Amino acid sequence: MEHDPALFFHDFRINYGITYRAKTTSFFYQHDCPPVHDCSILFDFSNLNVCICCLLQVLECYIISIDLFILSLLSAIWIMLPAYLPNPVAALSGGGMPIDFGKNFTDGKRVFGDGKTYRGLCIGILAGIGIGLAQIWVSGVYGWENLPQHTYLSITLLATGALLGDLGKSFFKRRLGKERGSKWPIADMYDLVAGALILLLIFDPAWLYANMTLTIFILILILTPILHRGINIIGYHFRVKEVPW
Ligand code: CTP
Ligand code: MG
Repeated sequence: MEHDPALFFHDFRINYGITYRAKTTSFFYQHDCPPVHDCSILFDFSNLNVCICCLLQVLECYIISIDLFILSLLSAIWIMLPAYLPNPVAALSGGGMPIDFGKNFTDGKRVFGDGKTYRGLCIGILAGIGIGLAQIWVSGVYGWENLPQHTYLSITLLATGALLGDLGKSFFKRRLGKERGSKWPIADMYDLVAGALILLLIFDPAWLYANMTLTIFILILILTPILHRGINIIGYHFRVKEVPW
C-alpha cells in the first residue's frame, strides 16, 4: 500500500493540511488539486520528497492533468475508430467498378480515378459501422461511461464521412493533375478527419459538441498522421497498398 503513488500523494496532502480546490474526475481515480501559491514548499530542497511531490502536483493539476490526458487520448481513439477503419478496409477490399464509371470531368481528367470504387466504399463504410456497433456493445456491457458514448447515427456519420472525405480529396487531387496513388501529404492524412467531422457537424452537431473537447480535437490531429502512416506502411509490406503513404 505504501508504494501506491496515488495514496502517497493523498497522504502528503493531508499531512500538509492543504485545502482542496479543483476536482477532476478521471478514468482511473479521482484526485483533488490543492492550490500551489505556497512556493516555499516547491523549493524546499531540505525535504526532497516533498519538493518532488509538489512539482508533480503542479505538473499534474495545473499544466496537464496526466489522468485527464490519458482519458482524452482514449476518447480521441474511441471517437475516431469508426472513421479510421474504413480506409484500410477499402484498400483491402476495393476493386471493380470505379465510382466515376471511368468517366472524365470537364477538364478532361478522371472525376475520382480508379482508386475509388463502389466495393471499397461500401465495404469500408460497413466496416466502420461494424466496429462502431462493437464499441456501443462493449461500452454497454462493461459500463464504460467515461468514454464518449457512440450512437447509431454517430458511427454511421463517422464511417461514411471518412470515405466521403477521401473521395472529395481524390476529386481535388485529380483537378490538380496528381496521378492516382501519388503523394499529397496533408490532404491524404486529414481527408478522413475533415469528412467525418464535417458530416457530424451537419447531421449531429449535438453529439459532436457533447463529446469533442479542444484537447481531444488536438489529439486527433496528432494521432491521425501517425496511425495513417503506420497502417499504410503495414499495408505496403503486405502488398495491400501499392505505396507506403
Ligand atoms: N479504395 C477503393 N474505394 C475507395 C477508397 C479506396 O477501392 N472508395 C481502394 C483502392 O484500391 C485504392 C486503395 O483503396 O487504391 C487505397 O486508397 P487511397 O490511398 O485512398 O487511394 P489511391 O489509390 O491513393 O488514390 P488517390 O490518389 O485518389 O488517393
Ligand atoms: Mg492514396
